[in-house]
Amino acid sequence: MQTPAQVKLVDTVAKHVLESVKGKARLLNMGAGRSTVLESLIAKYGCDFTSDRLDVDDCSADHPNVGECFVCSAEHMKPLKSDVYDLIYSNYVLEHIENLDAAAQEIHRILKPGGLCVCSIPNPKAPEFAIARHTPLWFHRLIRGGSGWHTHYAYTSVKALGERFSRAGMEPVEISFYPCVEQYFERFILLRWLGALYDCLVRIFHIKGMMGNICLVTKKSAT
Ligand SMILES: C[S@@+](CC[C@H](N)C(=O)[O-])C[C@H]1O[C@@H](n2cnc3c(N)ncnc32)[C@H](O)[C@@H]1O
Repeated sequence: MQTPAQVKLVDTVAKHVLESVKGKARLLNMGAGRSTVLESLIAKYGCDFTSDRLDVDDCSADHPNVGECFVCSAEHMKPLKSDVYDLIYSNYVLEHIENLDAAAQEIHRILKPGGLCVCSIPNPKAPEFAIARHTPLWFHRLIRGGSGWHTHYAYTSVKALGERFSRAGMEPVEISFYPCVEQYFERFILLRWLGALYDCLVRIFHIKGMMGNICLVTKKSAT
């Protein structure tokens, strides 16, 4: 199941490609992992694009929209040329990157002027991630039904993350917050119901600090 921030990510990527890019768009899925779900969802909008992929681990994939696959870190994207991408997207990756300042500078370098960077990320201030930080990987995998990564938050707050991107020349465009506890508990009926209630209350009272699922959009200046 997609998180709300993932839905927003795909929608933002597709709209940018359809409305602002002339010809075939060149995209980069940064920290792509092995899944091609995002490429497939973007393609469903009818976008004309090639998406390169990059990860510290093997991220090769057989998909009609996938171009080159690079095994390298976001902090040192040396094999990638400057000013070539219309848009970079990443799903739950920035929190794992040790040197975010270096990654933000590399993102700025490889984007074309006016290019977007669209990232779904966790809000480390949200209560569910405070709990996740103090629980082992096996517990995350139990809750998620197999998948799960080591918990690591490379930034202390979304504001601090935005400021690091700004310092690298990436202007903030939009930050969308969503509550998403229900999805973590989707395998457990009672917990899922409690999660849905929690999400509903957080949404009604609009408590951003308790919304754990974020889509951050930043832009390289057009000049
Ligand atoms: C939570 S997984 C998300 C994978 C994928 N984006 C998805 O939605 O399924 C985080 C990914 O970030 C990658 N990653 C971690 N640190 C990275 C870095 N410094 N540069 C590039 N990728 C990195 C990991 O190898 C992993 O594939």
